[in-house]
Amino acid sequence: MRKLAVVHHRHAEWVPTIAEAEPRLLVRGWHPKDNPGALTDPWIADAEGLFVWRVPTGLVERMPKLTWIQNAGAGVDHLLADPSIPPRIAITRADGQFGLWMSRYVAAHLLAETQRIDECRRAQHDRTWDSHLVPEDLTGKTALIFGFGRIGRRIGRALRELGMEVHGFVRSVREDPEFPLHGPASLHEFLPSARVLVLCAPLTAETRGFVDAKLLANGHAGLTLINVARGEQVVAKDLLAALETGKLGRAVLDVFPSEPLPADSPLWSHPRIVVTPHHSGPSRPRAMILDILPNLRRFAEGKPVEGAVDRARGY
Ligand code: GLV
Repeated sequence: MRKLAVVHHRHAEWVPTIAEAEPRLLVRGWHPKDNPGALTDPWIADAEGLFVWRVPTGLVERMPKLTWIQNAGAGVDHLLADPSIPPRIAITRADGQFGLWMSRYVAAHLLAETQRIDECRRAQHDRTWDSHLVPEDLTGKTALIFGFGRIGRRIGRALRELGMEVHGFVRSVREDPEFPLHGPASLHEFLPSARVLVLCAPLTAETRGFVDAKLLANGHAGLTLINVARGEQVVAKDLLAALETGKLGRAVLDVFPSEPLPADSPLWSHPRIVVTPHHSGPSRPRAMILDILPNLRRFAEGKPVEGAVDRARGY
């Protein structure tokens, strides 16, 4: 039986979930911050598969038989940036369930704004019946979704259900039966008439720093930016400047270049920025196992895994 090492802070949950889903594997778990001795266990050295989020230093070098890394999440930027992982090792992602969660996140934050929930609560606190607190109508307003894979599409569908006109932005433009798709270079043309820009693309050389002063110069005070992708896609100082100069109305940020967001970051206290703790796509073993199961089966049967990340593309 092939061995799959689970090195994850929630290994106690993941190991039984994986073992139950694919009983033809030997599965054992460690915490990535286990004492350094624990990760030199000969069992790990013999494993051909690794389920991991952040790879502890030196771990891959100690796994000469390793052929497959299953990432415990959607984004693989941290794994692709890790020089200890040789290109021969197949890396697969797990994102299937995040689209649903992230569409709830995006809808919740957008609707909180357009239904004026904070203002209603303030008026309630003051016992004021304010009939001017009319919700904003999203019908026909434009939502731009930067990154239109499974997650982006799910968010697009949710926003369309709210009455919005949805446009997706993808690296390779293709005909789509459901939504108009465009290349990233044309995003600036859509910004002047957009109500919301949602970032849900992988972090790659092309997307790093994509939302900068140049792009935001096309924005306006009625535009909301929602970032559920990676913090590095937004130039924070340009975002703050855009909020001051009326090139952006509001920002909802779930991801940051450094997490937890440092206590001295100006993002914490800005009145038109919402900061959340990278919780828009919670990784729940029970839900994510559905994504991973087909490759667990292939791995158990000695077959190559499918859907490996294209390293040149970056996702
Ligand atoms: C979380 O950010 C993930 O990429 O899964």
